[in-house]
Amino acid sequence: MDFRGKLILAPMAGITDTTFRLLCRENGADVVMTEMASAKGLLMQPERSRRFLEYREAERPIGAQLFGAVPGEIGEAAGRIREFGFDFVDINMGCPVRKVTSGGSGAAILSDPALAGKLVAAAVRGGGGIPVTVKIRSGAGNESETYLEVAQAVFGAGAAAVTLHPRTRRQMFSGLADWSRIAALKREFPDRVIIGNGDVRLPGDAFRMIAETGCDAVMIGRAALGNPWIFQAMRRQLLAPAGAETPLPPDAPPSGERRALILRHGEEMHMRLGDAGTREMRKHLAWYSRGIPGAAAFRGELVRVGTLDGFRAAVGRFF
Ligand SMILES: Cc1cc2nc3c(=O)[nH]c(=O)nc-3n(C[C@H](O)[C@H](O)[C@H](O)COP(=O)(O)O)c2cc1C
Repeated sequence: MDFRGKLILAPMAGITDTTFRLLCRENGADVVMTEMASAKGLLMQPERSRRFLEYREAERPIGAQLFGAVPGEIGEAAGRIREFGFDFVDINMGCPVRKVTSGGSGAAILSDPALAGKLVAAAVRGGGGIPVTVKIRSGAGNESETYLEVAQAVFGAGAAAVTLHPRTRRQMFSGLADWSRIAALKREFPDRVIIGNGDVRLPGDAFRMIAETGCDAVMIGRAALGNPWIFQAMRRQLLAPAGAETPLPPDAPPSGERRALILRHGEEMHMRLGDAGTREMRKHLAWYSRGIPGAAAFRGELVRVGTLDGFRAAVGRFF
């Protein structure tokens, strides 16, 4: 699994399901990941976890993300992930949500670099050769930024790559991601694969992050919401000759192409999940409508989108 030079779709709970991931892959994302799944849940209630781990061949390369704080569980779950055919397994050490950290998982692990190393060692052993990557924040709080120690521990235990989202656990999503931390991590581990993440929004931002930090790959999350085309736009900027004044490409394609993709998104969600899938499209429609005149009024109507016909009518009216 080679991450260098790649644009990676960030894992986002409740969003990056198989349908959305495939749309991103087809529009320029090089690598995708599932949303996080509990290692314990996967072992205790495999049927319920399968929903998070559904994927299709066309999505490859694809990683599955696990959260957990018990090395034995992470190790065994990594073995399952390999059996399911994923290309790599990622361990979540960045989620700041209380439901996850109260069990000692996610960003809570940043306070314990030794545990981070043990979790990766267990995943490497239990995963039977599948590459193990780790996604971290910069630390628990501003006074305790542990990302360098955590990276040291997980690389020492055999991690194939580290993604850094340089905000602390306490910051949640406030402020700006401090890319100088990504540069510091790359300086400390020049021969390792470092994936930069955080506030990569405009087409030129991926290029700028690589230029400013030296990171090997870029992970994009929120900028892809309602805009799976962002990857193509970023790729064009990456490929532009150095120093060339390239005009910024438009974020979104012509409206016909956009409408066709949105319809496909909703139709597939309905095929997979029935009307529940259509209701999930409300948030995607709100994202797709961003920046289009009349979007506020359109968003007000979305609570009434509940059937496939209603969804099609709404898309036909607005996009
Ligand atoms: C709605 C939402 C859900 C997320 N779920 C996950 C998750 O399951 N696992 C994870 O490691 N990060 C998760 N994240 C964090 C993103 O992967 C990413 O690190 C963060 O959004 C910063 O990148 P961005 O500025 O490109 O969005 C989530 C973020 C959002 C907004």
